[in-house]
Order: sequence, then C-alpha cells, then structure tokens
Amino acid sequence: MALERTFVMLKPGVLCRRIVGEIISRIERKGFVIIGLKIMRISRDLAEQHYAEHRGKPFFGQLIEYITSEPVVAMVLEGDNSVKMMRLLCGATSPEEALPGTIRGDYAMHTNFNIIHASDSPEAAAREIGLFFRPDELVDWSNENRNWI
Ligand SMILES: Nc1ncnc2c1ncn2[C@@H]1O[C@H](COP(=O)(O)OP(=O)(O)OP(=O)(O)O)[C@@H](O)[C@H]1O
Ligand SMILES: [Mg+2]
Repeated sequence: MALERTFVMLKPGVLCRRIVGEIISRIERKGFVIIGLKIMRISRDLAEQHYAEHRGKPFFGQLIEYITSEPVVAMVLEGDNSVKMMRLLCGATSPEEALPGTIRGDYAMHTNFNIIHASDSPEAAAREIGLFFRPDELVDWSNENRNWI
C-alpha cells in the first residue's frame, strides 16, 4: 500500500454548525494522520481555482458563494491509499446517495451543502495541497499508531 497525501476541506456549514470536532474525530478515528490543519476564509479567486473543473456548470456560482461565505477548515491527511479511503469516508456527492455511516450520509441533506471536500485523485491532491498550504505548514510526526490501525 502506498503512503499517500490527500487534501480535505470542511465547508463553512461545519464551522457554523459547531461540528468541526465531530468530523475531525471521525477522520482521526479511521486512522488518517493529520499533517496540516488550519481555519481560513478563502478568497473568491482561490475558491474558483480549487473548483476550476466545474467552471460553467449550473451550480458553480452557488458553490463559490457558499465556500467563501464563512471560513473553511483545510487539512492535509496522510495514510495508505488515503485519497480513495477519504472519498469512501465522505460518501457520495449527493446526500441522497451517500450511505448512512459516511460523513455526507450522516450530516447533510442537500448536495450543495454536502459539508466536506476530499481530493479525487493523487494528482488533484498534490494540486490542491499546493493551493492551500505552504510546504512549511506541513508537519511530519512519528505516528506510533500506524501498526495498530
Ligand atoms: N448537481 C449539483 N447541485 C448542486 N451542487 C453540486 C452539484 N454537483 C456538485 N455540486 C457541488 O460541487 C461540489 C463539487 O462537485 P464534484 O462533482 O467535484 O463532487 P465531489 O468530488 O464529490 O465533491 P468535492 O469536490 O466537494 O469533494 C460538490 O461537493 C457539491 O458541493
Ligand atoms: Mg470533486
């Protein structure tokens, strides 16, 4: 299994609903290692770069409005096969299809408020980590739990 990094963003509803701790707990409990973490208000420009692949789609304007409306919590996670594993933990894009037990399945009712973003490929992860974090904001630490998870 390849050790991989992925980028996760808790969308503004998470902070506003006071469930940041709950969501991060679920991510930690699964076994991901947090190597970068910050709260930030993102600019329109950064939001548009992050979601550039969706420019021109009907929901794009609303998506940018939402994720710039209040701060987000940005994270870099490390773990074996972490891109795929984190997408599984998030669940399907539409909360109507996200299974109970997934983060979207448990915390969201509408696609545009699906509470969490996770990179969909290692290439996207590298691009998104570069957009949101400087290299010196990522911290390597000894993960003694690794052999138990
Ligand atoms: N049909 C839609 N209606 C409203 N919002 C949508 C729709 N499709 C996607 N979105 C919003 O745009 C985001 C990006 O869509 P994408 O297709 O990349 O899904 P995703 O990869 O599961 O989500 P994300 O990139 O946020 O992790 C979704 O998380 C959702 O907030
Ligand atoms: Mg996506």
